[in-house]
Amino acid sequence: MNSYYNPVHTFLEKGSIGRVPELVQELCPEGGRVLVLAWSETVFELPAIAGLKELPGITLQKRVFLASNPTLEQLFSIYQETADFCPQAVIAVGGGSVMDVGKSLCCLYGKQIPSEDALRTMIQEKAFQTPQAKWIGVPTTAGTGSEVTCWATIWDPSKDAKRSLESHQNYAFAAVADPDLIRQMPLSLAVSSALDAVAHAVESCWARNTNPVSRALALSAVRTIMSQMDSLLAGDRTACDSMSRGSLLAGLAFSNTKTTACHSISYPLTMHYGIPHGTAVSLLLAPVFRLNRENTKRTEEILSALGVKDETELEERIHAILRAASIPDSLEEWKVERKDLKTLAALGLTKGRADNNPVELTPECIEKILEDIYSAEKRRKEK
Ligand SMILES: NC(=O)c1ccc[n+]([C@@H]2O[C@H](COP(=O)([O-])OP(=O)(O)OC[C@H]3O[C@@H](n4cnc5c(N)ncnc54)[C@H](O)[C@@H]3O)[C@@H](O)[C@H]2O)c1
Ligand SMILES: [Zn+2]
Repeated sequence: MNSYYNPVHTFLEKGSIGRVPELVQELCPEGGRVLVLAWSETVFELPAIAGLKELPGITLQKRVFLASNPTLEQLFSIYQETADFCPQAVIAVGGGSVMDVGKSLCCLYGKQIPSEDALRTMIQEKAFQTPQAKWIGVPTTAGTGSEVTCWATIWDPSKDAKRSLESHQNYAFAAVADPDLIRQMPLSLAVSSALDAVAHAVESCWARNTNPVSRALALSAVRTIMSQMDSLLAGDRTACDSMSRGSLLAGLAFSNTKTTACHSISYPLTMHYGIPHGTAVSLLLAPVFRLNRENTKRTEEILSALGVKDETELEERIHAILRAASIPDSLEEWKVERKDLKTLAALGLTKGRADNNPVELTPECIEKILEDIYSAEKRRKEK
C-alpha cells in the first residue's frame, strides 16, 4: 500500500503542556464542559491544567484513573460516573491506559449504555457513529503512541479477551508530547514503555499493511530510541527527550499499519500474568524477528536502526536492557507456568494483529516462541 493518513495536530517540545488552554479554547470557543482524566492528582497542580478553570465558560470535572491496562469494567464504571456531566472535551494526561480510557469515553457519551454487556457489544460492533466529544492526548509515559492512534486497548479478563475500541472518527484533536512530563517516570516504566515504541516501529515495517511513510517514521523512531537507551539506563534524564520523540514517531508509523505478532502474542501474557505491556512485547521482538526474516523486506535496514547485526545480537541487547532496568527477562521469572504455554499460545492469535504478520502464525509456532523466552537459565546455557 502507498497511502498514509493521520489528522492529529502534534506538539512536541518541552513546555508544550502550556498549549493545552489555547487548545481547549479552540475546541470549545463558546465555552463548555471539560473532563480532565489524569494518572495522578499531581497533574491538576500543573499551571496549564490548574488554569483551565479560569477560561471563560469552561466547566471542569477532574478524575484520576490509577489502574494500568484498563478493563471493560473500569471503563464502564468511569463512563457511569461522568455520563451525566457529558463533556464536550476530554483531556487525557497519562500513560497509554489513561489515554485509552479518555479516547474511549469520547465514543460513549450521549449513548444509552445500560450495562457492561451492552458496552461489550458496542465495542465489538464498532457502533459509535460520530463521537460527541473530542479529546486531547498528553502522554506521561513514552511508548504507546496512543495520542496519535484511533484505537484503544480495553482488556476484558472475564471473557479472556483483549478488545480494541476503534473509530476513524476518534483521532485526538491534538497530541501534546512534553518531555518534561515523562522525566519522573521510574526507570523500569521508562524502559518498558520505550521498548513498546520500538516494537510498534519494527512491527510497522513488518506489517502486511506497511507503507513507505510509516516505514520512514518507524526507522527514525527506532534509531532515536535505541541510540539513547544507554543514556537513559545511565540515569541521564535528557534521554527522555529522545524517548518522547521516538514514541510519537513510532505512534505515527503504526497508526496506519497496526502491529503484528509481538503484540498479538503478548496480550495473554499481560492479561494473565501482569507482565507490563512494553516488557511483554520486547521479549518477543527477537524470536519473532527470526520467524519473520524470510518474508521481511530490507531487514538489514531495521537491524541497523536497532544498532545490532543480527537477531542473536538483538536478543542479547533486549535482555541486557531489561536486566539493567531490573525488569525480569524471562516468562519463568514472571511466574508463568510451563504447563500453560500451550493455552497461552492459542490465546496469542489475536484477530487484526496475528493476521497482519508477514509470516502466518500457528499455535505451534507461538508455543515454540514462548518456549524460547521461558527460561533465562536455559538461554544463558545455550549461549
Ligand atoms: N491505544 C494504543 O495505540 C496503545 C498502544 C500501545 C499500548 N496501549 C495500551 O497502553 C497501556 C499501557 O500504557 P503505558 O505503558 O503507557 O502504561 P500505563 O499507562 O498503564 O501506566 C503504567 C503505570 O505508570 C503510572 N504512570 C503514568 N505516567 C507516569 C509518570 N510520568 N510517572 C510515574 N508513573 C506514571 C500509571 O499510573 C500506571 O500505574 C496498555 O493497556 C496497552 O495495551 C495502547
Ligand atoms: Zn504496544
